[in-house]
Amino acid sequence: MRIPIIAGNWKMNKTIGETLDFLKILSQELQQSSATTKFEIVIAPSFIAINKMAELLKDSPVKICAQDLFWEDAGAFTGEISAPMLKDAGAKYVIIGHSERRQFFNETDSTVNKKIKAALKYNIVPIFCVGETLAEREAGKIESIIATQLTGGLMDLTANDVTKTVIAYEPVWAIGTGKTATKEQAEEVHLMIRQMLAKQFGQTNADVIRILYGGSVKPSNSKELLSQPNIDGALIGGASLKPEDFMGIIKSAM
Ligand code: 13P
Repeated sequence: MRIPIIAGNWKMNKTIGETLDFLKILSQELQQSSATTKFEIVIAPSFIAINKMAELLKDSPVKICAQDLFWEDAGAFTGEISAPMLKDAGAKYVIIGHSERRQFFNETDSTVNKKIKAALKYNIVPIFCVGETLAEREAGKIESIIATQLTGGLMDLTANDVTKTVIAYEPVWAIGTGKTATKEQAEEVHLMIRQMLAKQFGQTNADVIRILYGGSVKPSNSKELLSQPNIDGALIGGASLKPEDFMGIIKSAM
């Protein structure tokens, strides 16, 4: 049984005050719904809001996610934040290898791999992002791009490690563009990812790994995406910034 995850990636948005305001509204809404018995609800705020969020949510089922980490535990790495620091602040998940980090901050499959290992070492669940650009899709390269990202990102991980990892398929052309993959396009790649995982780690292990879809998910398209057999939740950017839209997606998933 794969418990679906509905996750909001806030990217570089919201001050600490705005984060807490949003969470108060979300907590009230969730109390009136049975959503948290069916899904894991996850929010990825800015680093500086994580600790305050953890205090506010100490009795809440809503889980905290970081948007990145650095792979060393501590040392002379100005500006970076490590897995033990995130653990201490209250993060249970961490997004790794988001396409924006690959595009703007030189993230590679090899740095992604080190970051996934660092997260797992501290029992933080990595949400490992993969996805092709439009040019790659149009050139018929989806399978080879995803295979390269998966193999590189999961290098030297045991099957047990991989079952603790969440994969997010985020086609780059669908992120922040309003262009969502159709449910058929998304399901096709999710199935492909599961088959690749099965080939490398065995079907039983592949069957427990959650694969989220991300890319312009909103209340009007979430239901059909989330009803696909290999789509185990969503990683939501823009539509996770407003409580009513985020709750709309959670309700559609119910
Ligand atoms: P949007 O939902 O804004 O397209 O962003 C998706 C995303 O990048 C989530 O990580």
